[in-house]
Amino acid sequence: KSWARTLSARSTNPSPRPISTATLQPLTNFVPPSAAGQTGTALMAQQLLSSRSRLLSASAIDRSYLADHALSISDPDAYWSEIAANNYHWEKSFDASTVLKYNFHASKGPIHIEWFKGGKTNISYNVVDRWAEDTPEKTALIFEGNDPSETASYTFKELKAKVFRVANVLKAKGVKKGDRVALYLPMTVDLPISMLACARIGAVHSVVFGGFSSDALAARIKDSGSKVLITADGVGRGEKVINLKSIADTAMDSLGAEDQVETCLVLERLNEEQLKDNPTASHRDPSRDVDFAAACAAVSDDCPVTWMDAEDPLFILYTSGSTGTPKGVLHTTGGYMVYSGETFRNVFDYKGAPSDIFWCTADCGWITGHSYLAYGPLLSGCTSIVFEGVPNYPDASRFWSTVERHKVTQFYTAPTALRALMREGDEPVKKHDLSSLRILGTVGEPINPAAWDWYNEIVGKGNCPIVDTWWQTETGGHMLTPLPNKWPLKPGSATLPFYGVAPALIDPSSEEELEGNDVHGHLCMKQPWPGMARSLWNNHERFEEVYFSQFDGYYCTGDGAQRDEDGYFWVTGRVDDVLIVSGHNIGTAEVESSFVGHGDVAEAAVVGFPHEVKGEAIYCYVTLNQGVEGSEDLRWELKKKVAEELGAFCRPDVVHFTPALPKTRSGKIMRRILRKIADPSETDKLLAGDLECLGDISTLADEAIVHDLVEGLREPC
Ligand code: WT7
Repeated sequence: KSWARTLSARSTNPSPRPISTATLQPLTNFVPPSAAGQTGTALMAQQLLSSRSRLLSASAIDRSYLADHALSISDPDAYWSEIAANNYHWEKSFDASTVLKYNFHASKGPIHIEWFKGGKTNISYNVVDRWAEDTPEKTALIFEGNDPSETASYTFKELKAKVFRVANVLKAKGVKKGDRVALYLPMTVDLPISMLACARIGAVHSVVFGGFSSDALAARIKDSGSKVLITADGVGRGEKVINLKSIADTAMDSLGAEDQVETCLVLERLNEEQLKDNPTASHRDPSRDVDFAAACAAVSDDCPVTWMDAEDPLFILYTSGSTGTPKGVLHTTGGYMVYSGETFRNVFDYKGAPSDIFWCTADCGWITGHSYLAYGPLLSGCTSIVFEGVPNYPDASRFWSTVERHKVTQFYTAPTALRALMREGDEPVKKHDLSSLRILGTVGEPINPAAWDWYNEIVGKGNCPIVDTWWQTETGGHMLTPLPNKWPLKPGSATLPFYGVAPALIDPSSEEELEGNDVHGHLCMKQPWPGMARSLWNNHERFEEVYFSQFDGYYCTGDGAQRDEDGYFWVTGRVDDVLIVSGHNIGTAEVESSFVGHGDVAEAAVVGFPHEVKGEAIYCYVTLNQGVEGSEDLRWELKKKVAEELGAFCRPDVVHFTPALPKTRSGKIMRRILRKIADPSETDKLLAGDLECLGDISTLADEAIVHDLVEGLREPC
């Protein structure tokens, strides 16, 4: 079939031909952007650039990239229709004359984005049927359990049978096209298989990360209106056992009659011993709970495909915003398929070699796992690893022993994991043969110089391009990213836009787009790319408000960025109240409302501070009700409350009791000041009475509060 042979014509362009060096200036006189209002990770990226400028010799950007990128922006219809038609099966072709229709101007009417209108396809068919026919015996998924002795692999033919069975179970439980299915599962192959099963029958999957609490799960089930939940009794993570079923039970029990889950499919994952220690994991409600494996065994392994319109919903994935409840980011079928596949092949240099073994360490509960564990690689027929464990179990060489054992060629992880592993020294890496590695990737937050160096030298032995990929849940796939060997890397920079991506930096005060290089502003996008979110589930108004209301005509990412003298992008961190902790988005508003929900708390303000391993950590200023004393017990109780309500990864690092918060006369909390006081690198100066780093504090209603806050730094928090 044509799609198999022509797979990604564009990623197999002839080798790069350097362009004239005249278009590239050496970076010697780079001035780091102002640090005002930026968080810790942001600053690390800047330091990196200034310290590395000298490494760069005058070099060049691949000509074919420049030409293709220019075409992808000036004629997206022509550009993307060729890729879509050549690489995917469309049951009915899309209308090639209007591949993209959109409005980005809130001032001109509703925001809408449509790609490949008129086309009918199915992403699961493009993963499963296509490769089961073409390369049936090729390994699709490799499972690497929490216990390293537990591994398994599944060919595309086996994947097909498994996906079809789960699809039939869902159908038997009444799931129809457009219905939502919540997945709260450990990282076994059952998770990507269940996603693919939903997609096969047109159901919309809503994966909830297994580290989320029962409240977070309940809120997501309710908002998405999922009537079916697939979960597991539990999962081993490192030494610990997470009792998923009891969390799911608490979530389901908390839902009102209208929001009830009708069927809960339970994967039995725990062994006898683990069950003995977690008796509630064995609890089953016979009116609702069904043994997942038994149900799969009882149905046929053949299941007809449901053809979908290009713009039919594919999945919902919740992400934190700067205000309010989590946002149900909605992705649709055709555009997401084309974009996740195309970015995968280009960014990870996948050209169809059977020896390529791709490992993305992210959980499918995040967008990274959706696009680069499940869809991107499998759409391309590439072997993908599903890792259930954690980086430091049984020891700090887990990643590297796994790379060696499975001969991983492309490895994709988060800076926070690298920083944690770096602390363990080089020995755990050096004792393994990592010669299979070809490309190394990072995602989730800016990568700091030390971690970049270590990744490059110790892990990659200087031979593997590092792709620092900047993107978001909302973007569906990579946006700013190196393409291996197409242009020189600068450690800490996500470099240049992917095909179809038209970034703009906007000056927040003038609301004007900043032209030229060596500028810093709010990172926005001028036109749609196929993988972008189309809406927020059941809340298109909020979609318009969050992403399109700041600057008319632009999608606003919420990040700040610098474009350097060579036109390279440096993402400098969030410009809103979202924290990126260990690469996970956490809305300060959510943490604050959890605090305020405690009877003793009057008010709370949450900011991030630089943290060696997590990148950013959570610092909470809390004022207590009259007559309540801040104690170590209360501090512990509050941290526990947040962890229980939002998920363990949201547990605050510091709780700072204060008599009041610094506010302007109009009552706005001055977070800029709170961020400085939370920053450990400022503590000594502040305690010595040097308040210069706080900047202008004269707009505060009560300046004395600053002194109370600084004094509070003397207490252990
Ligand atoms: C936010 C999106 C994309 C999957 C994981 C996170 C930050 C992400 C980078 C990077 C600097 C990065 C941004 C972005 N971010 N990748 N390579 N360099 N910052 O998805 O949870 O939607 O978070 O993560 O701040 O806006 P997400």
